[in-house]
Amino acid sequence: MSAGGSTLFTGIAELVTNDPARSGLLGIVPDAALLVRDGVVVWAGSAAEAPGVLDRNATGGDAVETVDLGGAAVIPGFVDSHTHLVFGGDRAAEFEARMSGAAYSAGGIRSTVAATRAASDGELAARLDGFVAELHAQGTTTFEIKSGYGLTVADEARLLELASRVTDETTFLGAHVVPAEFADDPESYVELVSGPMLDACAPHARWIDAFCETGAFTVEQSRRILRAGAERGLGVRLHASQLAPGDGVALAIELDAASVDHCTYLTDTDVAALASSRTVATLLPGVEFSTRQPYPDARRLIDAGVTVALASDCNPGSSFTSSMAFCIAVAVRDMRMTPAEALWAATAGGAAALRRTDVGNLAAGSRADFVALRAPSFVHLAYRPGVPLVDGVWKDGARLS
Ligand code: NIG
Ligand code: FE
Repeated sequence: MSAGGSTLFTGIAELVTNDPARSGLLGIVPDAALLVRDGVVVWAGSAAEAPGVLDRNATGGDAVETVDLGGAAVIPGFVDSHTHLVFGGDRAAEFEARMSGAAYSAGGIRSTVAATRAASDGELAARLDGFVAELHAQGTTTFEIKSGYGLTVADEARLLELASRVTDETTFLGAHVVPAEFADDPESYVELVSGPMLDACAPHARWIDAFCETGAFTVEQSRRILRAGAERGLGVRLHASQLAPGDGVALAIELDAASVDHCTYLTDTDVAALASSRTVATLLPGVEFSTRQPYPDARRLIDAGVTVALASDCNPGSSFTSSMAFCIAVAVRDMRMTPAEALWAATAGGAAALRRTDVGNLAAGSRADFVALRAPSFVHLAYRPGVPLVDGVWKDGARLS
């Protein structure tokens, strides 16, 4: 984009705006154009209207550069509201064993904790930069990153400091699992997380999270930790009902969490409570794919009126994919979402799970974060699973890849 100028993107076969002022879930404009200035969408609409818009629009006298996208479908950049991208090592052997019949358990987290503690800042940062490039290349323009593989005051703080170099959406997850050195005294670990560890981590975090599940933290422990974070001004999110039903969803709603994530095993009471709350249900299909668990029933949630997001949960244990297109394809095929619902959940839904309105849509005033697909329609994201359809990615109006 020319410095200080505006850019008109043309040659858009189909523009997904997610603008609620337009008709349909995705607010699609066929044969569209998009006017961007200073990293923000100034106008989106039918290409036929673009000349009039340019005449009327104050472009500050600067030249308007035109970029022809050659018949692409254009979608908002993906908003991946749940990742764990700062870690050492991998768990390919654990995955291989699972594909031969072993079960997933929260205990595997401890092996990544050991590898992460042993890694230098430089090693973790280089790996993280690689993941960020991977996300961008696949069309993800906003992403959240959790800590949770350090589990000491110093290690959790350094993971969050590293994460905050690449995103503003950082989450303190000291309550990921009780580390081995506290195995005989989990209550002392809860005290540590909600006291000194929170003190060290809060300056680097926007959110606080806990893994509320058998083998990790109880509802009471999670409540104490999350409340302590909320008192420090952190927003609340929660991992719950991944492996079995429980009271985690109710806790998330009680604390007005922005999102409760996994939601694989829900009771009717959970679904009804979510529907009348502000809490988004974030579904993570990569987990069920990689652990051979049953998928969450997205249809049941959507039909009840729950706001649903899709995220990758990219981590070395339960879901080592960073591809939101993959999550969309699985959600459509196996979770009974329509292609439109899945794309909305991976963009506007992710934004809602982060309580953001400036991303996940392409209405006037939003950030110019968008993806041009090598396809005439967004439906191809699910229709052509595994095919690299991302042709170009723009963040804040600047081309990333
Ligand atoms: O979201 N569920 C808890 N945490 C991660 C898994 C982490 C791991 O297995 O290393 C998740 O699935
Ligand atoms: Fe997770």
